[in-house]
Amino acid sequence: MMAFIYHSKCQSASSRHATMLSILLLLSVAAISSCLGHNDIGENNNYHAKPAEEIIRCIESERKALLAIQSDMYDPGNWLSSWNNDDCCKWRGVTCDNTTGGHVTTLDLRYPYSTDYYDIIGASKVNPSLLELKHLKYLDLSMNNFDGAHIPKMIALLVHLEYLNLSYASFSGLIPPQLGNLSSLRRLDLGRDYDLRADDLDWLSRIPSLEYLDMSGVNLSQATSWLFQINSIPTLQVLLLSYTQLPPVSSPVPPFNLISLSMLDLSFYQHFTDSLLRLFSNGSRSLEYLDLSSNGLTGDFASARSLEYLDLSGNQIVGEIPPTVRNLVHLEYLDLSNNNITGQLPQTMGNLQNLGYLFLDNNFIIGEIPETMGRLFNLRVLDISNNHLRGQMPRTLGGLCKLINLDLSDNNVDGELTYLFDGLLSNCPQGAKISYLNLEANHLSGMIPASMGHLSQLEEVYLSSNSLLGDITESHFSNLTNLEYLNISHNFLNVILPNDWCPPFNASSIDMSFCHIVGKFPDWIRTQMNLKELYLSRVGLSGNLPPWFSEYVEATSLEVLVLSSNHFNGCQELVSLDLSENKFSGEIPTWVGISLSSLKVLCLRSNRFQGVIPINLASLTSLQVLDISSNNLFGSIPSSIGNFSSLIKIQNGTLEFYDVIYSIFRFHPRPTPLGTFYKESILVTAKGYYSTRLSLVTSIDLSNNNLSGEIPKELRKLRGLLFLNLSKNHLNGEITETVGDMKQLESLDLSVNNLIGVIPLSLSALDFLSYLNLSHNNLSGRIPTGPHLSTLNVDPSIYVGNKDLCGIPLPPCPGDAASPVQPDTRDEYEEEKNSEKLEELVEFAAVALGFVVGFWSYIGVIIVKQSTRIALFRLIDRSCDWIYVLLAVKSSKLKSKWQMMT
Ligand SMILES: *[C@@H]1O[C@H](CO)[C@@H](O)[C@H](O)[C@H]1NC(C)=O
Ligand SMILES: *[C@@H]1O[C@H](CO)[C@@H](O)[C@H](O)[C@H]1NC(C)=O
Ligand SMILES: *[C@@H]1O[C@H](CO)[C@@H](O)[C@H](O)[C@H]1NC(C)=O
Ligand SMILES: *[C@@H]1O[C@H](CO)[C@@H](O)[C@H](O)[C@H]1NC(C)=O
Ligand SMILES: *[C@@H]1O[C@H](CO)[C@@H](O)[C@H](O)[C@H]1NC(C)=O
Ligand SMILES: *[C@@H]1O[C@H](CO)[C@@H](O)[C@H](O)[C@H]1NC(C)=O
Ligand SMILES: *[C@@H]1O[C@H](CO)[C@@H](O)[C@H](O)[C@H]1NC(C)=O
Ligand SMILES: *[C@@H]1O[C@H](CO)[C@@H](O)[C@H](O)[C@H]1NC(C)=O
Repeated sequence: MMAFIYHSKCQSASSRHATMLSILLLLSVAAISSCLGHNDIGENNNYHAKPAEEIIRCIESERKALLAIQSDMYDPGNWLSSWNNDDCCKWRGVTCDNTTGGHVTTLDLRYPYSTDYYDIIGASKVNPSLLELKHLKYLDLSMNNFDGAHIPKMIALLVHLEYLNLSYASFSGLIPPQLGNLSSLRRLDLGRDYDLRADDLDWLSRIPSLEYLDMSGVNLSQATSWLFQINSIPTLQVLLLSYTQLPPVSSPVPPFNLISLSMLDLSFYQHFTDSLLRLFSNGSRSLEYLDLSSNGLTGDFASARSLEYLDLSGNQIVGEIPPTVRNLVHLEYLDLSNNNITGQLPQTMGNLQNLGYLFLDNNFIIGEIPETMGRLFNLRVLDISNNHLRGQMPRTLGGLCKLINLDLSDNNVDGELTYLFDGLLSNCPQGAKISYLNLEANHLSGMIPASMGHLSQLEEVYLSSNSLLGDITESHFSNLTNLEYLNISHNFLNVILPNDWCPPFNASSIDMSFCHIVGKFPDWIRTQMNLKELYLSRVGLSGNLPPWFSEYVEATSLEVLVLSSNHFNGCQELVSLDLSENKFSGEIPTWVGISLSSLKVLCLRSNRFQGVIPINLASLTSLQVLDISSNNLFGSIPSSIGNFSSLIKIQNGTLEFYDVIYSIFRFHPRPTPLGTFYKESILVTAKGYYSTRLSLVTSIDLSNNNLSGEIPKELRKLRGLLFLNLSKNHLNGEITETVGDMKQLESLDLSVNNLIGVIPLSLSALDFLSYLNLSHNNLSGRIPTGPHLSTLNVDPSIYVGNKDLCGIPLPPCPGDAASPVQPDTRDEYEEEKNSEKLEELVEFAAVALGFVVGFWSYIGVIIVKQSTRIALFRLIDRSCDWIYVLLAVKSSKLKSKWQMMT
């Protein structure tokens, strides 16, 4: 059995491979020694097991040296606490050798890594007393924190060293070339000290029997002769040079000399050339482990028949899976992910009988998954996600009893889960091992069989975005004690779980969005005390949130809660959707008009929405505020705009709670002239009316788009409209007299368009009009006068940029007698009065906020803690989930306001 070491490259792998990684890490820890043993470069390092009868005297000078060394080691876990008696040969990590008269030959100070000490705060030093241990053969200082210290040159004086491990120890600076004096050295590990560098590798060639060399992460950018120097060490069996910034190799390459090489890692090497590739793949017949990932390779490779581990991920390999790979019958690990592989999976893949790990994800593979995959009985991990596979998921997969991790997500695979689940259960007498199952975003159909409940190792189940149907019941989870992540959203599933259900698991994330949850709000959720994310969007829940819920949210670790698009009572309905000032692009989704029927406020201002205004927006029968300004919308304003039923009738009654609360978060407390105030904040639109008219705010703002065509005459129907802003578009045609039918209009802005004709006289009949802007059009003729316009007609700026307009407040029309314009100070007075009212309103709202229960669910999302906001981004391209993303992102802003208010 071959073993391999899993490198930190895995840190860049996606987190959903976490299960697999931990398995690999476990394997690799267990496997390091067997790997070395296999390569005949191991030796018996069983230094902890010493026969009791063996009597070795500890040499006093060495004991003192060891104590000095100990005093300089940072040891938060007290691993060296056994270093307190006379017999230093029995101390942890110390071995003496009776053949050398009891001298210390092994010093293993590798810090036993533990997450408890993840945040290392202290640093270690290499005490000069190390030199006392002249007979040392084995020195391991790895996993300590030497805090950027240089590698002490004195190590080069320990000339008996056969094993030197300084990896993961935060050494920095130039690797002392004196290490070349260690002529007995067989294993040298300097990997993962990311600030080390070596400008020349000549010293390596002075170590005649070096078998293992790890310099991963060392900066070798200046080592121009690296290949020639490395090539002169024919004893090398393991060569790990990942991420070393090696310089290019100038042609011609030397004849391949590393005849014993069995393990080679040259990943992340920017200057890989075809000739180099041929050299390595062709040269060493004994190669078992080859990592050439992330190298920009395009071509064919690897004819070394003996290969057991091959990682070519993250390259630019095009075409079908290369035939050479199919002949590598010893392969146990194959990673071709993140390439440009096309074509079908060959039937012959089934011949790679030893394969335990197969990664083909993120390619362009087409066709069906061959039945022969079911012959890969040793498979533990199969990942073909994000390709273009189609056809049935082969039934034979149900025979893969060792499978731990199956990921076919993001393909077009169809078929039913029954064959997989029932197959695994009936074929595997020892029990199925599967713990990670991701079949998201395919075309799977049929029911989720209840046999899922017996796959007791399952930890992560992702089945969302398929066509699964039927009921989800208790039995689906009967034995899933380890379940942590469950996502069955976006299917056609009914969730029928009794309220007194006590799930066998304690999950961290549950997503049942777009399922139909039968009954009332699921009480069993309260048993989930580790839950961090809960998505129950559009699950058909109605009524009240249960009384325990707010306390549950308070007390638990819940970070993300999405309950939108349900029909909760009272203020928990989605009545206000504010996505303003983000970077949403594409068309305004039509489902906004269909699904969000209770919306009163829709604000999509300042995004990058394109396309035309959807006709069905008008089916938002409760809508009072529509703000889609400052986008890239084009086309004409649909005539259906006249159908907003809540804007047709004259609104009456008090300013509602909702509106006040909503408004508070749009509040920008800075002094601005009245006109622009409106743009800044809906609160300010409420200002001035909450006491005088107690009217609901009604407003349409389509300004600052690319809208064209005429102003639809159907607008006249909106008799309840208070604010209309169509400015900064390309509207043409005339302003018709019917504008005067919008009797409640208080603010009308049609500036910066291409409107022509005369200003309709009916404007002067609008009793409440207090703001008007018609500037920068092609209007002509005489500005109308009248009792209501006279207060407005003191400000010429509302008419400027219409070269053919005339009359007060612009210059007189031809033939008129000039009349002086009276300055008026009333505006300033009004403004002052209004800002007083504003303060009152803010106070009122602050009080209101205090007792509105479950405020966050009112806007459809609760972000309890700030930490996981980023996680929501993964939802961004799934249908309408983007709303939550946005709300989540905005929540920090909202929260600071919230704090400000309370
Ligand atoms: C060294 O110890 C081994 C047992 O560990 C023993 O067999 C051997 O005789 C000892 N040699 C000397 C020189 O003491
Ligand atoms: C050196 O130490 C690191 C960390 O403890 C370990 O992963 C690595 O395998 C060791 N190298 C050798 C050659 O044993
Ligand atoms: C150790 O190496 C250095 C150069 O790397 C050399 O000058 C020195 O003579 C060597 N010492 C011994 C004892 O070999
Ligand atoms: C590697 O070393 C070279 C020269 O010593 C330096 O220019 C480069 O920035 C280093 N690379 C990194 C990532 O530190
Ligand atoms: C690769 O091997 C073939 C035959 O085994 C040989 O002709 C060719 O020169 C080799 N290429 C390199 C670059 O070693
Ligand atoms: C591989 O695919 C990516 C993304 O489609 C593309 O940008 C790249 O140019 C392709 N590379 C090759 C070598 O075809
Ligand atoms: C449930 O799982 C446990 C251990 O995980 C196992 O012993 C038991 O037989 C399983 N029961 C069923 C019904 O699968
Ligand atoms: C508007 O309010 C007034 C006084 O509160 C009331 O008499 C009238 O019926 C209301 N009109 C409508 C349409 O609700």
